[in-house]
Amino acid sequence: MKFDTPAETNPIDRLTIVGKPLDRIDGPLKTTGRAPYAYEHHGAAPNQAHGVIVGATIAKGRIRRLDTARAEAAPGVVAVVTAESAGKLGKGEHNTATLLGGPEIEHYHQAIALVVAETFEQARAAAVLVEVEYERAKGAFDLAGERNGAEKPEKVNDSPPDTAVGNFESAFGTADMTLDETYTTPDESHAMMEPHASLAFWEGRKLTLYTSTQMVAWTKKDLAKTLGIEPDDVHVVAPFIGGGFGGKLFLRADALLAALGARAAGRPVKVALQRPMIFNNTTHRPATIQRIRIGANRDGVITAIGHECWSADLEGGKPDGAVDQTRMLYAGANRMTATRLETLDLPESNSMRAPGEATGMMALEIAMDEMAEKLGIDPVEFRIRNDTQVVPDDPKAEKSGAENGQRRFSQRPFVECLRLGAEKFGWSRRSARPGSTREGGWLIGHGMASAFRNNMSVKSAARVRLTPQGGVVVETDMTDIGTGSYTIIAQTAAEMMGVPLERVTVRLGDSSFPVSAGSGGQFGGNCSTAGVYAACVKLREAVSGKLGFNQADLTFADGQVNAGGRSVALTEAVKDGELVEEDGIEFGDISKKAQQSTFGSHFVEVAVDAWTAEIRVRRMLAVCASGRILNPKTARSQVIGAMTMGVGAALLEELVVDKRAGFFVNHDLAQYEVPVHADIPHQEVIFLDEADPMSSPMKAKGIAELGICGVAAAVANAVYNATGVRVRDYPVTLDKLIERMPDAA
Ligand code: MOS
Repeated sequence: MKFDTPAETNPIDRLTIVGKPLDRIDGPLKTTGRAPYAYEHHGAAPNQAHGVIVGATIAKGRIRRLDTARAEAAPGVVAVVTAESAGKLGKGEHNTATLLGGPEIEHYHQAIALVVAETFEQARAAAVLVEVEYERAKGAFDLAGERNGAEKPEKVNDSPPDTAVGNFESAFGTADMTLDETYTTPDESHAMMEPHASLAFWEGRKLTLYTSTQMVAWTKKDLAKTLGIEPDDVHVVAPFIGGGFGGKLFLRADALLAALGARAAGRPVKVALQRPMIFNNTTHRPATIQRIRIGANRDGVITAIGHECWSADLEGGKPDGAVDQTRMLYAGANRMTATRLETLDLPESNSMRAPGEATGMMALEIAMDEMAEKLGIDPVEFRIRNDTQVVPDDPKAEKSGAENGQRRFSQRPFVECLRLGAEKFGWSRRSARPGSTREGGWLIGHGMASAFRNNMSVKSAARVRLTPQGGVVVETDMTDIGTGSYTIIAQTAAEMMGVPLERVTVRLGDSSFPVSAGSGGQFGGNCSTAGVYAACVKLREAVSGKLGFNQADLTFADGQVNAGGRSVALTEAVKDGELVEEDGIEFGDISKKAQQSTFGSHFVEVAVDAWTAEIRVRRMLAVCASGRILNPKTARSQVIGAMTMGVGAALLEELVVDKRAGFFVNHDLAQYEVPVHADIPHQEVIFLDEADPMSSPMKAKGIAELGICGVAAAVANAVYNATGVRVRDYPVTLDKLIERMPDAA
């Protein structure tokens, strides 16, 4: 199904099952421990051996000598794989760093060997016996230190690295009020619950891989490409994924080495990345240095806005897209953005939840708070005053054929999000004067920020089947990474076919199913259900043909098909056997004609200990506008998780770089801290009631990444309001506050 005109009224609009806050259909499997994760497919193949990865202990250089003899002779060892023994390997389209290193070493903990043994313990013991001598090369590890060597990348996502509208320099130079500040965000790790893990086995030239991935089709293609085999000879299975946050978008070392290990051992091999290996072996969110300049007139109208970002990656990598939202979020006649990329020899930089906006909003939304204060305007009001209904700096406008060269947003209820948030949070009771609200030993502060994240459209297919018993079976290679895909897909099929939810079976995460959008970029929910919608439209046509209806406007409800006063049981259509149909959604120019984005607001109350500067988050509110909410319960869980992650970014998360040795020092969950339940006492989420006919027949947009964008700045702004101390260097930790705290007495 080609989607190139706005969605009209369709069967989803009945909202008898879609739009309801239903429990996850996979919930019981998960809460009882019966949902098999990648390392747990014990019955999938007999005689499974265990592989343990050996990681490089230098950041850059060469292996001079690699001796596996002692490891091979260790008890239980079945095989040892190295780059040399593996032979020539290709590289996946989505990989920057080589997944099996040697003799060249590109980053710390790059995999250089896999030791396969009968048990995990034997493999781990033998892995220590692999002897490696290195020739160390000088590497670059310091983002701030290498800033002068930064280069202009070819592009940032699919936009040019630099953009300009009007004359920024002159407008900034003559503005009534200006702000010019630099903000920094650290390297961050996804820290998902389930480690990267894979089980591989070969049957002749056919490879089966049970793995933990967000993108089944990418894994299949890139594994085939790396191994130099046909994609059709790779079968990827990923029914349950314990989180990813972007860290499992791409083929990783566990999958490749499980496949190589299984080939070397001649039997099934499974490999999990031990937690201390994940932080340096896999990808991470890159640190950024962001300079923001804003000029405004006395009335608080922005006349100039500029955003520059520096980030780094390995050779051949890509920059962070932190300036992206600054092209779209606020009005202003004169503007500029610029992105620069440095080459560092740290582990690979790549996507992490809302890549671009997540870091960009951390900086921009502190800058907006600072500017509002300078102007003496309430921060909510300052944002409302600079709202825009067209995209102010839009490299894509020209190609879209938009009127006056300006594209509108498909929908933009941004001001509503701000107003509703302020009202529900009780913003008017906030004291604008920093450090002026006290409760005993605590300084109380309130902060807010906007939320913004783009909505992306990715084609997605599915197969649906109506069984003679009246059940509906959906098959698509979509993944459920803890997001609720199983449930919203079941809701979609049930709504379309007019059957209760219990009659729908959803099968996901298998490369033998039609290729879906996968889970990434907050596009999974809208796109995968739109694909299921398309397949169901075909199945409805097949049913209608079988039952001899010639009308176009049939109703499928309560297991009956109705039209023109005639009502026939759905099962009549399958009395001679099941019906199977397959289709997908493909997005035409509609996604380019208008800008599709999601909007929101975040409000936070913190308490800061007047003596120790310990920061406690007290309550949080998010208001989100994301098109139709397919399931308010799973959507709310997504936003709450994202808000929690935003608090992590604000207060806790930082990969500490050893700038001499070139690695992330705190590579475990004891030292890389993320918020836990007790850190967040109260969170509330409000969804605006809307539907976006430009997004898909589902009229939904992404929600899971919107929820993180802006949160950290709202927290930082609340800390400022509490203490009067402005921290522009994340995370906001007490050591950055304590010297400047107001007199505790
Ligand atoms: Mo998301 S960072 O595209 O999984």
